[in-house]
Amino acid sequence: MTAVGDFNITKAVHSKLDDLSLENVPFGKYFTDHMLVVDYEKGKWKTPSIMPYQPLQLDPSLAALHYGQAIFEGIKAYKDADGEAHIFRPYDNFRRFNISAERMQMPAVPEEIFIEGMRQLIEIDKNWIPARDNHALYIRPFMFSSDEAIGVRPSDKYKFLIILSPTGPYYATPMRIYVEEKYVRAVEGGYGFAKAAGNYGGSLLASAEANRKGYDQVLWMDAFEHKYVQECGTMNVFFIIDNIAITPGLETGTILEGVTRDSTITLLKDMGYKVEERDLSIDEILEAYKAGKINEIFGTGTAATISLIKELKYKEYIMNFDVDTWTIAPEVKRRMDAIKYSQEPDTHGWLYKV
Ligand code: COI
Repeated sequence: MTAVGDFNITKAVHSKLDDLSLENVPFGKYFTDHMLVVDYEKGKWKTPSIMPYQPLQLDPSLAALHYGQAIFEGIKAYKDADGEAHIFRPYDNFRRFNISAERMQMPAVPEEIFIEGMRQLIEIDKNWIPARDNHALYIRPFMFSSDEAIGVRPSDKYKFLIILSPTGPYYATPMRIYVEEKYVRAVEGGYGFAKAAGNYGGSLLASAEANRKGYDQVLWMDAFEHKYVQECGTMNVFFIIDNIAITPGLETGTILEGVTRDSTITLLKDMGYKVEERDLSIDEILEAYKAGKINEIFGTGTAATISLIKELKYKEYIMNFDVDTWTIAPEVKRRMDAIKYSQEPDTHGWLYKV
């Protein structure tokens, strides 16, 4: 096991920040000066290296490129008014990362590498955290199999990396959503609960078709009946119906256990709302819409934070919502942001100081 502090560190000679403004940075386009790289071989993690951000040299037979043993996480770090950096709930992502690793037959990454590596990397690239509302440093830990062989089996070698990207909002405006009845994201017994690369690659055709029809994203439904709500695009989804918040439960293994999902549930309860984690059918949604009982609908995710849904299209039905009158999701976002930017007390112990 790697001892804390036992890192090889090579600093970049020049900072790319000299030529880049952190005003209005789009999601995921720019990367900081450094990255963390750790190799796994013969059952052991080697000494982590923090080095200048650079391309990787990979063999064309690299197992991950052929069979998709690849997982990742999304986490954010924020700067407060005093310039102190905090990471939002990194231990929850650490736990989920190793759940994904197990599902994809990959080795667990130790805390000394995942958490301490992230902390040291951010410490070095701290100037890259945008000090601006709705902006953050997006942290992308990921791991892939690195055997140079094309037999179908778990690899012997893996690479774990962390890269950092200063970022603004993901979906800047309220979304129009297409209820997907043809393609599915996840099925019981599959790996929908894991943050595996294949879940995202497999979702692109449905999103592209929805985009062509004029929608921003799809509402994923269950694989058997196309009737029960699962997720929305790359986000978990919440419906507030008759002042009760409903989000799909995690039991079936088809839903990603989102950290923003969990934070939203906690804050909704703090605000006095009842939260139900349960099956929610499109018929129930349609009935509630017709009866004027849908208060708000929104997606939650690390990249997207909280994104309002202003339209749902299901078969011949178009459900429109006046998001300007909504108060619940905006208040959840306000409370979550106030914690992230250290403007209000972190009563749930969510911040990890860099
Ligand atoms: C995240 O919210 O961090 C995600 O994983 C969504 C996407 C950018 C892949």
